[in-house]
Amino acid sequence: VSSLKGRDFLSNLDLSPAEYRAVLDTAHAMKRGEFKGQRPLEGQTLAMIFEKPSLRTRTTFEVAMNHLGGHAVNLTNAEIGLGTREPVRDIAMNLERWVDAIMARVYLHSTLEDLAQYSSKPVINGLSDLLHPVQLLADYQTIEETFPDTRGLRVAYIGDGNNMANAHIQTAVLSGAKLTIATPRGYEPNALILMEALKLGADVTLTHDPKAAAEGAQVLYTDVWVSMGQEQEASQRRKIKDFAGFQVNPAMLDLIDEDGIFLHCLPAHYGEEVVEEATLHPKSRVFDQAENRLHAQKALLYHLLG
Ligand code: CP
Ligand code: NVA
Repeated sequence: VSSLKGRDFLSNLDLSPAEYRAVLDTAHAMKRGEFKGQRPLEGQTLAMIFEKPSLRTRTTFEVAMNHLGGHAVNLTNAEIGLGTREPVRDIAMNLERWVDAIMARVYLHSTLEDLAQYSSKPVINGLSDLLHPVQLLADYQTIEETFPDTRGLRVAYIGDGNNMANAHIQTAVLSGAKLTIATPRGYEPNALILMEALKLGADVTLTHDPKAAAEGAQVLYTDVWVSMGQEQEASQRRKIKDFAGFQVNPAMLDLIDEDGIFLHCLPAHYGEEVVEEATLHPKSRVFDQAENRLHAQKALLYHLLG
């Protein structure tokens, strides 16, 4: 189907700008129903490995494989014990004999790199401590539904400089958006990822002022302050109120462009980074965004395996 066939997708920068465009075009076409009744992945199997919980990633990858004529096998870490029951290498060298691709949600990004190194089949990042690239495909599909041309678009990410912030920085290389990341001091995104993206021409600015970032933005994005795997830091993070002033609420949404939209990858920790009045606000597109996980991943699977 495309130059992406057989490749890994560990980061958004595994796509060239043209490949990114092709995947998003396919995602929009999938949503319009243009592939209905076709079974391009007939007989193909996706193994799904989860070291952490999931609603959206788990459901949308499985439904995506079904829609494309293939199917998915779910493997929780309690069953397979990555690196505990057996080495990641052996898991990769077993799975590649049975399945056509592996999607994994892991604590350590290096686990994905090990899976990719030892499996000849495509490995897809379903979230790591460093990045969440499939989420960004759905995010930009959603953004393009309101703003078809994302070049120069003002995107503001406010909150923790985590896997979502890092993935936004990488995707700015591909989308041409003008990205502002506002974090509290000490919670800035990954410096190496930022430097690489800037070198590749991304327009990214860091600030510690959430209101300045939100003011006039066409897209406002936030994510949880305590990511999966960081729960032991939770009380400290909450107590010292490092994130005071970073909550997305109706007052924050008043600051963005009048045609602007609000996105959140979900799950939401209500009362922390966001309030219900924001996800249910007329500017919110968070449930379209969740829907688009399905279309965007169908498109990705089609390009990697079709
Ligand atoms: N946004 C996202 O990845 O959701 P899940 O953690 O439910 O998969
Ligand atoms: N930053 C969050 C994203 C969840 C989809 C986490 O890693 O838990």
